[in-house]
Amino acid sequence: MENRKKVITTINHKRLEIESDKAFMSLASFLRNEEGLTGTKVVCSEGDCGACTVLMSNEIGTDGKMIFKSVNSCILPLYLIDGAQIITVEGLKHENELSTIQTAMIDSHGAQCGYCTPGFMCAMSGMAEKLKNENKPITEKKVRNFLTGNLCRCTGYRPIIEAGFKIDLSQTQFLKDRYYSQSWVEEMKSIKSKSMKMTFGDKNIFLPVTLDEALVAKKQNPDLRLIAGATDIGVVVNKGKLVTPKTMALYHIPELRTISHDKDFIYIGATVTLSDFETYMEEHIPELSKILHIFASPQIKNQATLVGNIVNASPIADTIPYLMASDALICLKSSTDEREVKLGDFYLGYKKLDLCADEIVVGIKIPQLKKGEHVKLYKISMRKDLDISAVTFAAIVEVNNKREISQIRLAIGGVAATVLRLKEIENFMKNELFVRETFIKYSETLPQYISPLSDLRASKEYRMLVAKNFFKKFHDEVAVCL
Ligand code: FES
Ligand code: FES
Repeated sequence: MENRKKVITTINHKRLEIESDKAFMSLASFLRNEEGLTGTKVVCSEGDCGACTVLMSNEIGTDGKMIFKSVNSCILPLYLIDGAQIITVEGLKHENELSTIQTAMIDSHGAQCGYCTPGFMCAMSGMAEKLKNENKPITEKKVRNFLTGNLCRCTGYRPIIEAGFKIDLSQTQFLKDRYYSQSWVEEMKSIKSKSMKMTFGDKNIFLPVTLDEALVAKKQNPDLRLIAGATDIGVVVNKGKLVTPKTMALYHIPELRTISHDKDFIYIGATVTLSDFETYMEEHIPELSKILHIFASPQIKNQATLVGNIVNASPIADTIPYLMASDALICLKSSTDEREVKLGDFYLGYKKLDLCADEIVVGIKIPQLKKGEHVKLYKISMRKDLDISAVTFAAIVEVNNKREISQIRLAIGGVAATVLRLKEIENFMKNELFVRETFIKYSETLPQYISPLSDLRASKEYRMLVAKNFFKKFHDEVAVCL
């Protein structure tokens, strides 16, 4: 198959071909330093403040038009916008007229120094685009949720939230209409049908369009580093702690972007974003959707993937406890073989995975909840939204005749080198009475199985106490549902 050797993208209305080491720059640096689009600001360079927010579309909706979502451009390498369209704050106004969103911000006095304002404008535009598309009204809750990834140091959030609330969606033009171009849509499809391989010095990027190509590449180059949304690696690169010399991204492979389910499993492909996963889970496993809701900002969730979170293997990852408690299966493929591994067996130690050098994680299979199973997920962090967890917990229980525990599965994070499945405690609790005393009794055995550490976020004593309290909380919350 013939390879392209350049990144092709559109920024506002300008089509660009990028073929030097610029492809490895962050999008924010490229916008500011190469394109003179200095409306996009950079403050934290970590994906935390939202100052660098832009809108990106790398997918086409059922109406044949682009779907624009907010992303943080400071941690996004340019090679991840191959085949995508970007709209910056400069592209929000129409001819010489400000958009309804920009006007609402002015009318509400939502800016003082204005440094954060372009990021807020793009985040709000992402909100308006989505809600208008879904024919849903703007509510204060929605505005707050869509702006969780944007910080302002001087205005105070009240006028900014009021601005969001004041947007008149009936007068707001769809960006997907304003930016619609039949020729770009056709080109985008053609970009996604031809692999892109670029080498510059010791840096390599490979964007295959078929899984077979990806598997062969991984076999031939076992040290090839896979990148998903770059929401973690992008931060490390910005801090100068990592260069990514040999990199492969899989987002042009359509089969890895799918979500589906049957009566037994929900299947999530390797490049499904956390936003799409969260939306899907609202209907299928609402408890998991609630945790995803406070997991990260919309900008991060629009770019990060579930499989990226799993392979990152953090002991405090927010998605892992539920997946481990539910006996989710990791689907692995190499060019010659394929296998499935229970998530509980996938972690061999701190950041050590049961993953061969020639294998790729192609997806995850999450068992459907059975009738009668009760689920609770807990997360303790210093603040509710967008914070790194101190301790996480997932529990699934089945209770016979409101009396006996017929089955229980428990997973806990933040108390060891990996998220842990508490199998011994599960076995002891099976067939015990479903009463508070049972949960207190077994919570007291936790020190035999977990060994939390003290760090910036919590002391080991606090983590142990929280872990024990989760047992009681779980009992109390399920008891009222029986
Ligand atoms: Fe803060 Fe990008 S500069 S999120
Ligand atoms: Fe100054 Fe928001 S207006 S940081």
